[in-house]
Amino acid sequence: MSVELTYLGHSAFQLTDGETTVLVDPFLTGNPAATTSADALSADTILITHAHNDHVGDAPAIAKRTGATIITVNELANYLSGKGLKNVIGGNHGGTISFTGGSVKFTQAWHSSVYNDDGKLVAPGVPAGLVVRYGGVTIYFAGDTALFSDMQLIGDEGLDAAVIPIGDHFTMGPADGVRAAKFLKAKTVIPCHYNTFPAIEQDAGAFKASVERETSSTVVPLKPGESFTVGH
Ligand code: NI
Ligand code: MN
Repeated sequence: MSVELTYLGHSAFQLTDGETTVLVDPFLTGNPAATTSADALSADTILITHAHNDHVGDAPAIAKRTGATIITVNELANYLSGKGLKNVIGGNHGGTISFTGGSVKFTQAWHSSVYNDDGKLVAPGVPAGLVVRYGGVTIYFAGDTALFSDMQLIGDEGLDAAVIPIGDHFTMGPADGVRAAKFLKAKTVIPCHYNTFPAIEQDAGAFKASVERETSSTVVPLKPGESFTVGH
């Protein structure tokens, strides 16, 4: 069982098990790192970690066009439903929600969560991380977060891959990313949320060397547009 994971740039990912497609934090329009456009993507399910615009991104437009179900934290789900989006499901930390082909469990994330809705600032709910079980594999998307020691509990879930931010400034940087990798014990660590803007430029090769020296995880830095098979 395996899933093809494609990096769309920043924190945006596409997953497919060959039958359905899942998008995570699909920020394409205005994303300097994106190599594809929102219009080129299809989706059955869209997962959003928190309300910041670099994570909600094009999710509303993609959901409208494709009929995909959006799953996110409860208050953001209510906000998006209130804007006329159908098929939006809200959950909260600790809860698991099933979707076609898999499920997602919400974890904590130490961050903030404000949405700029065409100039109007709203704060719909709290940020989350996501433990996604899909295509026979388990992938943790940390979302935007600081390091927290309860990542050990997430590591206990048996992660095939952990997608963690290393950009620093708004999230963990590489040094805390190494500590996160120790807690998460994932087979594969995929860094994200770096090199999109000057404020979050990082050396993914140095991060890879540190994690692989200090843990048994393998780090796979992906360029936007590149794919990696999780599982076998
Ligand atoms: Ni954020
Ligand atoms: Mn962000």
